[in-house]
Amino acid sequence: MSKKYCIIFGSPRKEGNTASLLSVVKEEINKKGGEISFFDVYESDIAGCRACLGCQKNTDEICCVLDDDMQPILKAAAEADVIIFAAPIYIWSAPAPVKAVIDRLVYSGCKYYGDDPYGPSLFEGKRLALICACGYPVEKAADLYEEEMKRYCKHTNMEYIGMLCERQRNLKEPFMDEEKKLRATEFAKLL
Ligand SMILES: Cc1cc2nc3c(=O)[nH]c(=O)nc-3n(C[C@H](O)[C@H](O)[C@H](O)COP(=O)(O)O)c2cc1C
Repeated sequence: MSKKYCIIFGSPRKEGNTASLLSVVKEEINKKGGEISFFDVYESDIAGCRACLGCQKNTDEICCVLDDDMQPILKAAAEADVIIFAAPIYIWSAPAPVKAVIDRLVYSGCKYYGDDPYGPSLFEGKRLALICACGYPVEKAADLYEEEMKRYCKHTNMEYIGMLCERQRNLKEPFMDEEKKLRATEFAKLL
C-alpha cells in the first residue's frame, strides 16, 4: 500500500528556499507512489490553540473544536504515515503560522488531559520529518528547533525521522545547487 504524507508548508516565499528543497522531496515521494496532502499555512486561516481542552472529550479521533483551516490538516494528519513540516527558520524556531499548527496538532491527538490521565496518543506509529532553510550556519540556526521537534515527537509518541536543513547566507545568492539537490534526494529516501 502506498504511504500517505501530510506536508505542512510554511514560508511566505512561495518559490523560496524551503519550497525548492520541498520540490525535490515531493518529486521523490511521487516517484515511489506516495500520496501527498499539501497545506500552505501562510494561505490558511489557523488560530492559535485556545487551551479549551475540547479535544480531550473525544479520545477516538484526532480532533479540535475550533472550526477553521486546521480541520483538513487534522484529517490528513490522522490518515498520514508521515507528517512533514517544511518551513524556514524564524528566530531559532518555526514561523508563527507553522507554530500555530504545531500547537493545535499536539493535543488534538494526545488525549492526556481528559478524564483518563493515561489516555492514548493517536499519533503513535506515525513518523515526522523537518525540511527547513536558514540564513545562519545550520548548527546554530536550526539546533533549537530540531531539539523542540525531537521532544515533540517523544511527547506525542511519533518517530522522529530527521531534518533536512540548508543555508543561504544572503537572499541575493542563488540557493539551489547540485549538492543540496543530492542531499534532498537522499533525505527523501528516509521518508
Ligand atoms: C522574520 C525572520 C526571522 C528569521 N530568523 C532567522 C534565524 O533565527 N536564523 C536563521 O538562520 N535565519 C533566519 N531568517 C532567515 C531565513 O530563515 C532564511 O532567509 C531562509 O533561507 C528563508 O527561507 P525561505 O526562502 O524558504 O522562506 C529569518 C528570516 C525572517 C524573515
